[in-house]
Amino acid sequence: MKQLFLLLASLNIASAQTAPGHWYDHAVIYEIYPRSFQDSNGDGIGDLNGIASRLDYLKDLGVDAIWITPFFPSPNADFGYDVSDYVNVAPEYGTMQDWDHLVAEAKQRGIRILVDFVVNHTSDQHPWFKESRSSRNNPKRDWYVWKSGGGPTQPPTHWTSIFGGYTWTWDAQTEQWYYHIFLPQQPDVNWANPELRKAMFEVVRFWLDHGASGFRLDATPYLFEDPAFPEDFNPPAPGGPAALEPYNSGRPENHQVLREMRRIMDTYPGDPVLLGESSTATIEDLAKVYGRNHDEIQLPMDFLFGNLTTLDAATFKKQVDAAQLQLGGQTPVFFFSSHDHQRQWSVFGDGTHNDQIAKLTATLTLAQRGAVLLYYGEEIGMETMPAGGLKSVPVGPKRPRADDRDGERTPMQWNAGLNAGFTQGTPWLPVESNYRRYSVESEKKDPKSIYSWYWNLLKLRHDNSVFRDGSYVPLESGNPNVFAFGRTSGASDLALIVLNTSPKQQTIQITGMPGEWPQFRHILMASPQAIAPSSPKFTIAPYGVLIATTGQ
Ligand code: GLC
Repeated sequence: MKQLFLLLASLNIASAQTAPGHWYDHAVIYEIYPRSFQDSNGDGIGDLNGIASRLDYLKDLGVDAIWITPFFPSPNADFGYDVSDYVNVAPEYGTMQDWDHLVAEAKQRGIRILVDFVVNHTSDQHPWFKESRSSRNNPKRDWYVWKSGGGPTQPPTHWTSIFGGYTWTWDAQTEQWYYHIFLPQQPDVNWANPELRKAMFEVVRFWLDHGASGFRLDATPYLFEDPAFPEDFNPPAPGGPAALEPYNSGRPENHQVLREMRRIMDTYPGDPVLLGESSTATIEDLAKVYGRNHDEIQLPMDFLFGNLTTLDAATFKKQVDAAQLQLGGQTPVFFFSSHDHQRQWSVFGDGTHNDQIAKLTATLTLAQRGAVLLYYGEEIGMETMPAGGLKSVPVGPKRPRADDRDGERTPMQWNAGLNAGFTQGTPWLPVESNYRRYSVESEKKDPKSIYSWYWNLLKLRHDNSVFRDGSYVPLESGNPNVFAFGRTSGASDLALIVLNTSPKQQTIQITGMPGEWPQFRHILMASPQAIAPSSPKFTIAPYGVLIATTGQ
């Protein structure tokens, strides 16, 4: 043990250490798309009472917090991300009483709730926007971004919106254009306006006063635009994705707003957290999102990692090393699946070994130092419904358009019964056809299921100090198909995690641990079964996952 102590003391791991003391530094945050999680009243749409009824499940799974995507009144042009009232619950999801009930029940189980705060834009049906567009002299005119351009046929710039088309929509009544980085139904608010800022901060206080433990901040890079609105930066990119340029993404002005928001958060007890949808082009930019003095977003989501779509050990290592070693020791946030991303079972699966691969990608995120986001159903291997399965979905009055993200938003698969246990009515989206095999009920009974694998990983994160808050130890496997890393807590125990991302058995020779090879006494988890490696050179099975420890 003494030898191991010296060995670990000589490892260069200081930069990957976590500042102790915050619950969110090692949190597992479970994202719930409320429409699809659990319906309690038979209308085919999930709701807050449905979530409350599944808290025991979430507690047993071991999640620390849930992030609920928007459940506020909304015309649903972008399913809740077009908010028409920030301080209420949409009738389809319940009432404020239901919210209070959910908070109380979650608190009893030690589960925190994060509210999705859409900070960049409102719905065009929000009273603020209705006032703003009513006349050029309205006191709320400046709460949004209005420009004259060259009249009705010539927008102020030709910048393209993330959802296609120009970022400008002409308002015939007041004869000006308003700015929107997303849909025309989602006008951007003007954070430069102090009254708008005040009103938004009241929303922050409202939800914290009502028991929220923080926010997932939507679309944080886009709060400000270059006030000069230069035309020449962003020529239309026909057919291509919107080119995000410094004029409307990651502007320096964002920091001031986020600092102010954080200051409000810090006046509340319970260590509330900001989880940011903070996509950046580089790891250096991501580091800045935490704030120069750690005074902005505590948990910015790492999209450089989350957007990876190839099962490739070398790329995983590159991005994980960056997140662990180049963020100044701050807490990285790992995820793959979300309501905007294809589900990881489908993305990384090869069609034959999907379940094995699901265990591998689960380990890749959950064995890391840092916070991890799980997307509902990820833990049972839900797949993205292929587009064909969605063709029959009626559009209906509440559904202005089908969404190409519907495939990853299908109902949670609880059991093999009617509508997979999601609703007694007609589900708003069809249930994925694999629900008899992939459901909570069936997988709980099977110790080899994806669910059991996740359950064990979450347990490891809670019960084992190395996995709860141990440092990250970068290692080299000597093989581009295999990602190996270590975790260590204090100067005693060391865990070794090895992931083979290829369909073939691989031989590896691990380097990066100075001195002699530590004695790994136990295999904590392995898929398929394996024995603890007694030397740095060993083989690992196709898509093999190994978690070994020097401890008990
Ligand atoms: C975020 C949300 C996404 C939404 C967009 C516009 O990216 O995650 O679902 O469409 O913001 O609000």
